[in-house]
Amino acid sequence: MSLLTRRRLLRRAALSATAAGAARTGLAGATAAGIATSTVALGGCDSPPERTTDPEPDRGLRFPDGFAWGAATSAYQIEGAAKEDGRGESVWDTFSHTPGRIRNGDTGDVAADHYHRYAQDLDLMRELGLRSYRFSISWPRIQADGSGRPNQRGLDFYRRLLDGLHERGIAPMATLFHWDLPQALQDAGGWENRDTAERFAEYADVVFRALGDRVPVWLTVNEPKTVVQNGYIWGHHAPGFQDEDAAYLVAHHLQLAHGLAVQALRASGVTGRIGPALNLHPCYPADDSAESATATRLHDGYENRLYLDSIFKGAYPQDVLDDLGPDSRMVRGVRDGDLKIISSPVDLLAVQYYTPIYVTGDGGTVRKWPTSEAEWQQIYPEGMYDILTRVTRDYGRVPITITENGLPCPDVPGADGNIDDAGRVTFLRDHFAAAHRAIGDGVPLESYHVWSLLDNFEWAEGYEQRWGLVYVDYASQRRVLKRSAHWYRDVIRRNGL
Ligand code: FCB
Repeated sequence: MSLLTRRRLLRRAALSATAAGAARTGLAGATAAGIATSTVALGGCDSPPERTTDPEPDRGLRFPDGFAWGAATSAYQIEGAAKEDGRGESVWDTFSHTPGRIRNGDTGDVAADHYHRYAQDLDLMRELGLRSYRFSISWPRIQADGSGRPNQRGLDFYRRLLDGLHERGIAPMATLFHWDLPQALQDAGGWENRDTAERFAEYADVVFRALGDRVPVWLTVNEPKTVVQNGYIWGHHAPGFQDEDAAYLVAHHLQLAHGLAVQALRASGVTGRIGPALNLHPCYPADDSAESATATRLHDGYENRLYLDSIFKGAYPQDVLDDLGPDSRMVRGVRDGDLKIISSPVDLLAVQYYTPIYVTGDGGTVRKWPTSEAEWQQIYPEGMYDILTRVTRDYGRVPITITENGLPCPDVPGADGNIDDAGRVTFLRDHFAAAHRAIGDGVPLESYHVWSLLDNFEWAEGYEQRWGLVYVDYASQRRVLKRSAHWYRDVIRRNGL
């Protein structure tokens, strides 16, 4: 077998067995084998009582002055109002309305009804003491078909939201694209079509000019890797394809879109900062063999360096390009000057950390730590420290914000109506402590956004997985602060643990 063929096989195995491959389908993509595998009954939510005493003892871990504690959401997951005020259809409307795609046939039509209840949600944010709120702007609300004249009513909604944040002293952080591509653009080829990147830059320009006076930080594309893997390789996210060759062309066009949006911000004269939002997975060899080390290196290329090297070094990683091969659509699709656009200087890097990945010598993956209700998520706070310090070591001291980190729990109100998500408290506490240690070791981390402010539409899992600090009773749309929300308020008050 030639080295190339072997590499291809390894990669295929790695991709089909990756932890993220199991994401949100409930399918066990990663084999629970080998090293210290265990799955806890309540998926990390079943914390030993001695670890969750309330109020928590003051551990004396203070974060730097001005550290911005926040929470994150995204448009399709919370807004609802799918057909209101001129909003067009997105790929997620199409996908969620396709029978068999989403658990229980759930859709984002109503979601947490945030479009109508945003004022109440802003009050909740104030009650928590949030300093920063990360949300996304729905492209099809701004341009129903993905291009042309903007829809003023869509822009007005976000202006109301931004005004409400400013009134409450909460800094906005706006993501331009959190997966809800206008369906009309998908019909024209979606992210396989290079033109979509140009459309994105135009949309970004519209938003910068309309809302730029109110937004200090912009994020371009949320987790391009998830679109690539979940949307185009495994097909359990919109648009639901299984086409690896297309997937990596999509990876390139998403990054081109990122770079063009950065350039559009600079050209617009708007003063806000801008950066990418990447979900990074620290990759570790599953054992001490040389094969595992080699396979881990390539896996890291696909998980992390494919998105980091392009933006921060202006080049795709050579091992990934070699592995894809010269005939791949991606390699053929990269044009002169593209990497220069993609590596347009950014002001910050948004890191989303959920899980580590352990890679075996044959390119497969195994689990080493307990998983959460989301089977792809192994609970390993140390991974937060590792990925933050690694990024700073390998890519320089670019300011970092954590824009997502959190845990799904089977939250059910008790007889007293309270939601006792002790496991989420433990999870967050341990990840905050890891971030604190990374800051101590020189990582320029400036803010931390818990995923998520509210329970919401968790993509292919529908409403089954609850990730919020705030419980949403979907029947009545009543909000209830969970125990973790009360605990988080104290963390924010004392700026630490
Ligand atoms: C991230 C997504 C976010 C949410 C969390 C659980 O990958 O960006 O929308 O689904 O996972």
